[in-house]
Amino acid sequence: MSEDLNIIAGTKAERYESLIPQIKGLLDGEPDLIANLANTVGALKEQFDWLWVGFYLVKPSAKPSTEEPAFAKATAEKEELVLGLFQGPVACTRISKGKGVCGTSWEKAQTIIVPDVEKFPGHIACSSLSRSEIVVPVIRNNKIVGVLDVDSSDLNHFDETDKVYLEKFVALIEF
Ligand code: SME
Repeated sequence: MSEDLNIIAGTKAERYESLIPQIKGLLDGEPDLIANLANTVGALKEQFDWLWVGFYLVKPSAKPSTEEPAFAKATAEKEELVLGLFQGPVACTRISKGKGVCGTSWEKAQTIIVPDVEKFPGHIACSSLSRSEIVVPVIRNNKIVGVLDVDSSDLNHFDETDKVYLEKFVALIEF
């Protein structure tokens, strides 16, 4: 079976609309989360050719091996964002709650649009080419389970249309 994506020109909304049934088709009947995150990210990257698009997932914090057992236990119970499936340049692997755009989206449980990353206090620069960014939280059963992060090499690239559609896309994936 061919899995070719139909890439279209057109307005931003038209390009998102064209992707919805195609991503639904790719996810349909597939229970594996990694496969579904990979295909969602792949389809978005192919259609929009952003600098970076990917998921960070909420996971237990890594505990350094040198820690005292009691402290290690406390840190093990904490959570952080860990790099998941993505397309684009290599990126930082772990982000704490409240840090950077991703950690802020997690903490506030809301989508954050950053028109100019240099003007976002605490922005984490994984790539020096990134100029603007949008981060969408993935919420399941009233808990944030991850975020979808998209970076553009253009300033002011993301707007309400991206917010509306990217929120729709993350809702399609079963976590
Ligand atoms: N810029 C993000 C970090 C992740 S990279 O952009 C892939 C942030 O400030 O959280």
